[in-house]
Amino acid sequence: MSDASRRPLIIGSGIAGLYVALRSRELGLRPTLVTKSLLDESNTRYAQGGIAAAIGPDDSPAAHLEDTVRAGDGLVDVSAARLLTFEAPTRIADLVRYGVPFDTVNGQISLGREAAHRHARILHAGGDSTGHSIEETLKQRAQEAGIEARERTVLRALRPGSREGPIAILSDASGHEVEHLGPGPVVLATGGTGSLYRQSSNPSVTTGEGVAIAFRAGALLTDMEFIQFHPTVFWRAGAPRFLITEALRGEGALLRNEAGERFMPRYHKDAELAPRDVVARAINQEILRSQHGCVYLDATALPRDRLYARFPSITTFLSAYGLDLARDRIPVAPAAHFMIGGVTTDLEGRTNVEGLYACGEVASTGVHGANRLGSNSLIEGLVFGEHVARQLRHPSAGGPTVPAQTLRIRLPEGTGRAEESPALDEIRDTLWSGVGIVRQATGLRSALLTFERISRAVEPADVDVLPGALANAAVTAALVARAALERTESRGAHYRSDYPKKVSAWQHHLGLLRQPPPSSSAPGSSKKVMPRRGSPP
Ligand code: SIN
Repeated sequence: MSDASRRPLIIGSGIAGLYVALRSRELGLRPTLVTKSLLDESNTRYAQGGIAAAIGPDDSPAAHLEDTVRAGDGLVDVSAARLLTFEAPTRIADLVRYGVPFDTVNGQISLGREAAHRHARILHAGGDSTGHSIEETLKQRAQEAGIEARERTVLRALRPGSREGPIAILSDASGHEVEHLGPGPVVLATGGTGSLYRQSSNPSVTTGEGVAIAFRAGALLTDMEFIQFHPTVFWRAGAPRFLITEALRGEGALLRNEAGERFMPRYHKDAELAPRDVVARAINQEILRSQHGCVYLDATALPRDRLYARFPSITTFLSAYGLDLARDRIPVAPAAHFMIGGVTTDLEGRTNVEGLYACGEVASTGVHGANRLGSNSLIEGLVFGEHVARQLRHPSAGGPTVPAQTLRIRLPEGTGRAEESPALDEIRDTLWSGVGIVRQATGLRSALLTFERISRAVEPADVDVLPGALANAAVTAALVARAALERTESRGAHYRSDYPKKVSAWQHHLGLLRQPPPSSSAPGSSKKVMPRRGSPP
């Protein structure tokens, strides 16, 4: 192994990035962890629902696999889901070894239920602070292990390197201090796209640039049309869109409309515990019908002490708005929550770009199909993170299969004008209105035109200038819209009002690959790469 291979670069500090860093360190490597914000700021930190693993006495990985496949609506890659569900208990044992303080009852880890899981298999730590507990524990272990962590450091681009991996171009948060690292192995663990949507359950760091950077570097993307919307985030003008976990409905909380009617039984036999996409669309319909802006989550029939003990973060959050779970109906509405697709990998986390790996939300293994089962994402970061760590230690040849239906997409030619923040607002509004919970061709086409117009304005005209945050956001948004326009059916999280039925001919993944630029001075030329002025990433 060369020295470069011994020093993998891991981008992102959520559960996937921290775990790969820890495990690769244990395997004798010297990883560097890079994160654009602080080490403990990530989507993982805000995960409330928990982490799924079949560790209960009446449960089995085979049952977990069945539930995962059923939720994925015909598109789950069964080999990926088998790996996830059968290796989940071992990865939970790793978290216990690292010291994650899982909640217990009588000395045993306590297990909760969530929609579409037929068994109690959701582990929590600190009640609804599960993500926070895991993030803090892994961060502490990474610090104790002496892993080099570089905060406020931003991946700007990947350029062709060697067989060992790409060259990573990093900058400081202002975008002015630029550094080239590699060639060597790079692990993308950059998370999803949630905060590119106007309404989102995610923290502001989830801007999807990992997708755009990988795509520019020639990585295959799949399933980009599948964005999962969470049915219940807190809804009040001026307040953050704080997640109100599905686990509350698992405990028996009900959904009521503005007239106080419990409406979910009209939409699905499983009522509040129907699949997430069904609940999100039902709420959306109630909101459109009533023009009321939100519906209400009613947990007032549940025991007060249990609510406070089980949901301490939500209790504290709501108290700042004068609300009490045990007394008040909580205003909620749907919001973008999870990117199901992303950078395509095989089961070992390998992408089609040599030396480039991906895991966690940014990766698309096919494990979630068209609709992710709640609490399967934290465990995904660990299971596939383990395979990535082993690949880093013992690299072998392989990579994902390119789907038969793969669109070749040319990046817009830019004029390289300076970035303007209003354009980011326009992307957020347009994704929400045109590429949201209910989609149709006219809205998708118009959204695509908007993203392409913004791209043309901000994409660097000179290939040697690094794209900024807005250019990456516009590319990622355009890829989601393009894939959603192409898939002329409704399946899982992707709902088209002009194609409301599932179509068997569409029971396959949709790939997206970059059409290389015609000129030979394409990205990857050995010329010096310049940051663009006034474009903090
Ligand atoms: C939730 O707590 O409702 C979200 C959990 C998840 O998305 O996995």
